[in-house]
Amino acid sequence: MSTASRPGPHLATERLPGDAAGIARAIELLRDGRLVAIPTETVYGLAVRADDDAALARLFAAKGRPADNPLIVHVASLSALDEVAAEVTPLARTLLQHFSPGPLTIVLRARDDVLRSVTGGLDTVAVRVPAHPVALAVLDGLGLPLAAPSANRSSRPSPTTAAHVLADLDGAIAAVLDAGPSTGGLESTVVDARGSAPIVLRDGGISRERIAAALGLATLASTTDAGASPGTRHHHYAPSMPLHVAQPGAGATMATALLAGAHPDATVALVRVAPRDAAPRVVDRVRLLADVADAEELATRLFSLLREAEDADARAIVVEAVAETGVGRAVMDRLTRAAAGSRASDDVRGSGA
Ligand code: TXA
Ligand code: MG
Repeated sequence: MSTASRPGPHLATERLPGDAAGIARAIELLRDGRLVAIPTETVYGLAVRADDDAALARLFAAKGRPADNPLIVHVASLSALDEVAAEVTPLARTLLQHFSPGPLTIVLRARDDVLRSVTGGLDTVAVRVPAHPVALAVLDGLGLPLAAPSANRSSRPSPTTAAHVLADLDGAIAAVLDAGPSTGGLESTVVDARGSAPIVLRDGGISRERIAAALGLATLASTTDAGASPGTRHHHYAPSMPLHVAQPGAGATMATALLAGAHPDATVALVRVAPRDAAPRVVDRVRLLADVADAEELATRLFSLLREAEDADARAIVVEAVAETGVGRAVMDRLTRAAAGSRASDDVRGSGA
């Protein structure tokens, strides 16, 4: 289980149902500058008024998030874009016409009155319109833009259920609005739309292929420059045990090899993709968490499976790779970062402390 330390004063975190009463209470708390985790179609977000510096400081503290990692501003509709963006480019309009509401975040020049605690000190702002009815009801009722990073402690896997949120942030936030599991499972695609051609800053729920097709382009540019895409310079998505990425079909072999010489009680969790053999030839101590059909299913379930491996007290988790096309590119991005963040060079022979 997560043993993330809980910063700040201990709050009684309210569990709110995703109905009219829960939404009304969430709006009331948010208006007061409190932190409320809300469901979106990608992952749960930790929402706060984007116009309240003190509230934003509490959000960075609750997450343990570095101040130079900017937040996505969530708005109820495209008409609210002008409230944060200094210039909405034709490219931004085209992208949003195709993919909004939905898991696409666009980066534009920020208006001067957008708080620099939201933008991580940059003069750009990231905006998205979520496609979740409960998120939209909150935004509509509140009538203010909400800054909302994923509702996990910094560096942890993003939460796709209210229980995941509470595992990381119970006692550190005012409330969680529970509308069941997020269906998307991976965060939004972040695209710099300031110029005439899009630049992908983070792969996500909308694939590069779909964006290119919508714009009539053959390929899309991307950047891994940490200045342009600040989130990429920090460790991310890491479960509490080492994560290893296996070649397709080789997960069981890798998991078994990791157990060689390990403590007799150690188990290794395994996630296979499109397995050929129905019954895996694995030893007792390899715990098959899931067989997923393809990259799409892995995208939906990945973060949840990482947390399941923690709950199962596995000493390591092995996940089979998928092809880096379509949503598979975002899946491999998260897997690679999670592996790096989990110190995958450690192995299960260690103390596990
Ligand atoms: O699906 C999502 O995007 C979820 C839900 C809650 O909306 N949110 C989310 O937020 O994933 P977060 O904070 O975990 O990730 C935001 C990403 C980071 O990589 C951050 O660096 C990038 O967006 N970002 C935010 N503002 C930016 C800006 N002005 N320029 C470049 N990148 C920016
Ligand atoms: Mg995040």
